[in-house]
Amino acid sequence: PTPTPTPSYDVAFAPVAANMDDTVTVPNGYTVDVLLKAGDSIEAGTAYSGSYPTPADAEKWCGGNHDGMEYFELSGVDPNTGGLLALNFELPDYNILMSGAYDAATASADQKKLALSAVGIGVVEIAKGSDGKWAVKADSRHNKRYTGNSSYRAGGPAAGLLSGTIKGMLNNCSSGRTPWNTYLTCEETTDNYLDPTQPEENYGWVVEIDPFQELAPPTKRTALGRFNHENVAHMTNDDRRVAFYMGDDSTPGCIYKFVCDRAYSADNRGANTGMLDYGTLYVARFNADGSGEWRELTQGRNGLTVGASDPGNVSQSTTPPAPAPVDFRNQAEVLVNCQSAARVAGGTVMDRPEWITVAPDNSAIFVTLTNNSGRQSTVPADPRVRNLHGHIVKFKEAGDSPLATDFSWEIFLLAGDPALASGGDNLVGDIEGDTFSSPDGIRIDPQGRLWVQTDHSIPGNSGVTGKSIEDVFGHNAMFYIDQDSKESKRFLVGPTGCEITGLAYTPDLKTFFVNIQHPTGDWPVSGQEPRSSTIVVRRSDDKPVGA
Ligand code: FEO
Ligand code: CA
Ligand code: CA
Ligand code: CA
Repeated sequence: PTPTPTPSYDVAFAPVAANMDDTVTVPNGYTVDVLLKAGDSIEAGTAYSGSYPTPADAEKWCGGNHDGMEYFELSGVDPNTGGLLALNFELPDYNILMSGAYDAATASADQKKLALSAVGIGVVEIAKGSDGKWAVKADSRHNKRYTGNSSYRAGGPAAGLLSGTIKGMLNNCSSGRTPWNTYLTCEETTDNYLDPTQPEENYGWVVEIDPFQELAPPTKRTALGRFNHENVAHMTNDDRRVAFYMGDDSTPGCIYKFVCDRAYSADNRGANTGMLDYGTLYVARFNADGSGEWRELTQGRNGLTVGASDPGNVSQSTTPPAPAPVDFRNQAEVLVNCQSAARVAGGTVMDRPEWITVAPDNSAIFVTLTNNSGRQSTVPADPRVRNLHGHIVKFKEAGDSPLATDFSWEIFLLAGDPALASGGDNLVGDIEGDTFSSPDGIRIDPQGRLWVQTDHSIPGNSGVTGKSIEDVFGHNAMFYIDQDSKESKRFLVGPTGCEITGLAYTPDLKTFFVNIQHPTGDWPVSGQEPRSSTIVVRRSDDKPVGA
């Protein structure tokens, strides 16, 4: 691990006010440019120009509902002025693809192809022009789409239960990367909601894709478990051993880590093919005394046997449900029924674990628990019934090691706002400074600075009659949070209807890439259909963002 550098500059931007403006609001001295809109051309061909595409055209377009993303350096290119951006498309932006609502049960073959074209990922080569503005390099050989219509292979212990060639990946929510610079895109669904004729086992995986197109073709890595994957964040040690941390955005949903059996190679990328097929999967158990354990999800251990008993959804009712019998005959069944295996093994059922981030020096891991309005019984790590506004848990591995089987944990903050006090204490939270609801994206940048992005649903329930969630918090936004004082400062506010999700940056931190997902107003191009988009946030004086 690299020690967390002492930030070479203070975070000194003037916070922006909560608002409901149909634009992206950033602090004074910052600029916003739109880099990549749903329907823009990725592979050479057409782009959205106001009329609906053919399936063949849409297959080459930028997909919809941009979510997690990662920036990759290109050999021979100054990474502060050019590189590859790999980004997820969680859902179609239907409004630019077809008229009316999409219904998988009645959709035509062309409508299915159109919908499936707009999920998956895109890889684009981008470069900063002499005017300081970033743009996609239209002619780059790196520009590539992987969609819901593309073919995927499977690796790992459950590969034999999946189709030989798998059609599509779906609900590409958030993402991550490996130390050998492949992209990990995460499926947040275990069923094919766009084409129900496909077998369910094929979905709900972490998919490894090499943005440089040098290593294996796109592969669903079954050893990491099948659930409603949000993102994946890794921790390495000095011996090049690596752990991958993952949340299951479900009620109930657990927190997982996968530890690769062997060290990765730093100088031979090809030697790392298959690293994600061999390792141990664990689920997190948060004890009441602030300690925690990683429970191994290996067939034959921790109750994962034939005749096991699944305690079920213990969070959403005051009386425990009747346990359900479940059989785990082999590791493939553990991985395919991972949510059940996690509960059997004693994993703690959390309030929808979304993103996880690891500090550069391995000293802390943060996870967002976005909300869980249906929680009726609490545990110390999920301390609020009817948790409408969510919280953030911080945990620390024993010895700051990715191989640890024990950790310590604390509640880092409880989201909410004092203006909601009349609805009950559980709506107020303990945020110092700018308040928010429903933390979702979270990322510690290479300077060790913590950024949080929100996804309170719109229209949403604030918990107080007569007060909409936007009355209290404004549009979804992005915040900087000081890890010592826990003071929150609002950095960016999104346009109407959107969620803020996805954060990547250049090594000099002068360029931040942020995704604006599912806007519904008159943004990003006035007078046109709203479109999910990647934006670029910079400073007019060319200093690092946040300085
Ligand atoms: Fe796709 Fe859980 O956010
Ligand atoms: Ca999310
Ligand atoms: Ca969310
Ligand atoms: Ca979303």
